[in-house]
Amino acid sequence: MESIYLDYNSTTPMDPTVVQAMTESQLSGFVNPSSQHRLGQNARQLLEDEKCRIIELLGGKSSGLEQDRLVITSGGTESNNLALSGVANFQNQKFQRNELIVSSIEHPSVLETANYLQASGMIVHHLPVDSTGKVNVDFLPQLISPNTALVSVMLANHETGVIQPIPLIGEICREHNVLLHCDATQAIGKIPVHFGNLGVDLMTISPHKFYGPRQIGALLVRRNIDLAPILYGGQQQLGTRPGTEDVPSIVGARVALELAIKRLAETDAIKKLRDELESHLSDHLPDLVINGIQGERLPNTSNISVPGANRQALLMSADLHGIALSTGSACASGSSEPSPVLTAMNLPNSIIDSAIRISLGFATTKQDIEFVGQKLGEIINKLRSSKQI
Ligand SMILES: Cc1ncc(COP(=O)(O)O)c(C=O)c1O
Repeated sequence: MESIYLDYNSTTPMDPTVVQAMTESQLSGFVNPSSQHRLGQNARQLLEDEKCRIIELLGGKSSGLEQDRLVITSGGTESNNLALSGVANFQNQKFQRNELIVSSIEHPSVLETANYLQASGMIVHHLPVDSTGKVNVDFLPQLISPNTALVSVMLANHETGVIQPIPLIGEICREHNVLLHCDATQAIGKIPVHFGNLGVDLMTISPHKFYGPRQIGALLVRRNIDLAPILYGGQQQLGTRPGTEDVPSIVGARVALELAIKRLAETDAIKKLRDELESHLSDHLPDLVINGIQGERLPNTSNISVPGANRQALLMSADLHGIALSTGSACASGSSEPSPVLTAMNLPNSIIDSAIRISLGFATTKQDIEFVGQKLGEIINKLRSSKQI
């Protein structure tokens, strides 16, 4: 039985155009861009051109005195680690700024890095969110102090899809002369993302969330912002992130980003399907709760709860019917831990315990959604009548 994949926030299939560009790049050269020979220099030039193009596509400055820089990493997780540890350690060593502010709904790659930094002596403040899944910006000025090294707030949440008020947060940070990191992992390819307009200082990018390759990511860094490295080795990327760069993956990331931007217009159709699914489910399950629906959300994401249901039973039953869903972030699925995002939203246990995430992609069809809407309704009612929920 073929599965209907509705877990695109977890990862996306690589677009064939990306595969082709990467294959051609793989076949045309295996050269290390740090090698001094002509082949190495050509690879370096290609690498730098690709990085400039990525910066431009993301709304950064790729030339001139104000040039932003792109640090290539192994993915969103490493970019978030580098942003937090890199800024915090540098700011702490140089300016004795030893406090961090992170929103309480960040991905574990931010929250766990903050926990690690706290264990090493930094002071970490959590910016709360309200029950709609939006960070409570009013608390930010109170949390900022002269010792604040960095504020980190994501652009869109991985579980609820709720879009955060980053330009406003950026204004507050600038007023207080504090750096702002934004994890844009879930937003790119789903909504327009412009580094300059967002007013952030560092931004995390992860191409496998927008039909690009896995195990490559980037941190876009505003000019003049210094980062302490988290890896030690050679002088690649000016020592900020040592290790041999993989040119074909960077080509793949650039092609995926170009495509993602071109295809933004198609996200209206995805939103329409998501909304149809939600309204079908609401019609058939009167007690259905759509988490985060009160605010602005990513067009492809739906986080639903049926109070009293067991999310794990629901997920497994859907899987048996060929529907691939998630109980939250991929790192937490497979475990029965309650969602930290919904917990931070202070939702009742009955909502948290029954929450599942449905995330649509470009390959999702109307037929898929009709089937899933009908099947999920049936599954929930069946589990209910057999008291398995
Ligand atoms: C919001 C967010 N940030 C960071 C990550 C980690 O990205 P990666 O899988 O590239 O390490 C994810 C992955 O799910 C995510 O959703």
